[in-house]
Amino acid sequence: MAQAQPNIALIKYWGKRQTKFNLPAVGSLSVTLDSLWTRTRVQFNSDLEKDEFHLNGQLDSIRYQRVSQCLDLMRRRANVSYCAAVVSENNFPTEAGLASSASGFAALVLAGSKALGLDLTDAELSEIARQSSGSAARSIFGGFVEMEPGHRKDGSDTIAHPLIGPEEWPLHVVVAITSDRTKIVGSTEGMQRTSLSSPYYQAWIQNHAPDIEAAKRAITSHDFDALADISEYNCLKMHGLALSTRPALIYWNGATVECMNCVRGLRASGTAAFFTIDAGPQVKVICEPSETQEIMDALRGIPGVLRVLNSRIGQGARLI
Ligand code: PMV
Repeated sequence: MAQAQPNIALIKYWGKRQTKFNLPAVGSLSVTLDSLWTRTRVQFNSDLEKDEFHLNGQLDSIRYQRVSQCLDLMRRRANVSYCAAVVSENNFPTEAGLASSASGFAALVLAGSKALGLDLTDAELSEIARQSSGSAARSIFGGFVEMEPGHRKDGSDTIAHPLIGPEEWPLHVVVAITSDRTKIVGSTEGMQRTSLSSPYYQAWIQNHAPDIEAAKRAITSHDFDALADISEYNCLKMHGLALSTRPALIYWNGATVECMNCVRGLRASGTAAFFTIDAGPQVKVICEPSETQEIMDALRGIPGVLRVLNSRIGQGARLI
């Protein structure tokens, strides 16, 4: 069985340069979480007539096709055609803006490749995971992780790599859950809509590399304020892009906005905390461990916040 954790992008991936191999138009940078996980077991069996996928104890027909296509990538590498039974479990809500596809496909690729006897490097696992979900390429690794946009047409240079390990800068991530509903517009469709309709899309791509460089400098020098500044800027830039899409992609609800205001207020009064938000209404707050309790208490007091979770920065995908 393999376990992988979701990761939260500090510098966001939004937009594809090519859809066949799912290649991002921009690089990205993330932190892998610790306390949220997907656990997946894969058994290939020549008696099966088709793949089977169970998520959280139930047959899952909605995600079946993506799972089966991911298995195809591994079957092709191993040169086999057996079908597989996949059993997966998430200890957090699926497709609700908590990066379940990142942990899900990272765990699936590791479990599936081992079940087929493939002995792949982390870079190879990352490349396969990317084809199913761009952010899954980052969950192969722990700590702070960079995803390269790459230049090659076949995507062989579009892989993630670790920057610093989880123990080197042991920050915490507090997550405010403001909705349990699955997201209305998934990231693939959202990115496509943005690239076709936002007047700001080219500017987003052209202005992205300096954000990655600034975030990398902040991470290597453990400069919390600089990381806070560039991460919030890049997050709001991505959501500005989403808002300028036709029809507009509004991933926030009222509580999402209140959480952002709360975190900015805390930082203005000296608390080491900043927020980031992906394609959903949940707010992730990156903070120094000593500030965790204060931030959790403040977020819990906001109307519309359903639950607040806390996580350390975690390791990459592994067999358990
Ligand atoms: O990997 P996908 O297709 O789930 O897209 C991820 C998109 C964002 O979460 C919004 C940004 C990111 O870099 O993770």
